[in-house]
Amino acid sequence: MLIASLKPRTMGGTTNTGLLAYALARAGHQVTCYDADESLQLAAWARDVDDFPGTVHEADTPAFAETVYPAMDHNRVNLVDAGHAENHPDIVDSVLEVADLVIVTVSPTNPDYDRLVKPERGTPIAKLIRRSAALRDSGKAPTTVILLNRCQAGANSPKEFADLLTNGGKDGTLPRWDVLTTRIPRREQIASAVGFPCDKPGRKAPYDALVTELTRLGHVPAPGGPR
Ligand SMILES: Nc1ncnc2c1ncn2[C@@H]1O[C@H](COP(=O)(O)OP(=O)(O)O)[C@@H](O)[C@H]1O
Ligand SMILES: [Mg+2]
Repeated sequence: MLIASLKPRTMGGTTNTGLLAYALARAGHQVTCYDADESLQLAAWARDVDDFPGTVHEADTPAFAETVYPAMDHNRVNLVDAGHAENHPDIVDSVLEVADLVIVTVSPTNPDYDRLVKPERGTPIAKLIRRSAALRDSGKAPTTVILLNRCQAGANSPKEFADLLTNGGKDGTLPRWDVLTTRIPRREQIASAVGFPCDKPGRKAPYDALVTELTRLGHVPAPGGPR
């Protein structure tokens, strides 16, 4: 299967992609990553540490669906870190053409919410996802979930933004999203994760919970099962 990690702009996308790769491997999955962000930070992370799970292939191309996807081992969990959708809609379009599951990283703050639902420039991610249906074999947009990250412990904002996202904004006119109950905390050990080994408990537990939720929802198969 192919999981796409998306975000409108800098949101913690690469952090989430990498730490999710580690968590999938801990859960027993065979994982291969693809870096579809021109900054190639996920690829650099895998190069810089000894414990990164599997290979990271450089794949920052708008021909992702035609040139990268067909060469994948579809018996593994493939995970692609896409760049800023605002800046690279061509690459994101191509990733959306073939992804089985899309995880959109968003922080529960006004600017990040606005960048997701009504960006000043560029195409909203919801529209990119919706229009991908026309190019997909199924004719349907991929299953998409929102992962709230940088959530302050004890703050109301994660629930407030989860409600806004679930209900289509205050007046219900915006797209409605499925928001995961797993929330990635705002935490120094996660802030400093990119480029370093995943050797701290604070880098593991939230992502183990994420894999558990994705598996429970049927979005990710049980390890060893069909993909
Ligand atoms: N859970 C978190 N808590 C605190 N800071 C975080 C967290 N996740 C990411 N960050 C910080 O957010 C910034 C962007 O992260 P990064 O993963 O590079 O985002 P993106 O790939 O979306 O550009 C970095 O400075 C990183 O340290
Ligand atoms: Mg990144």
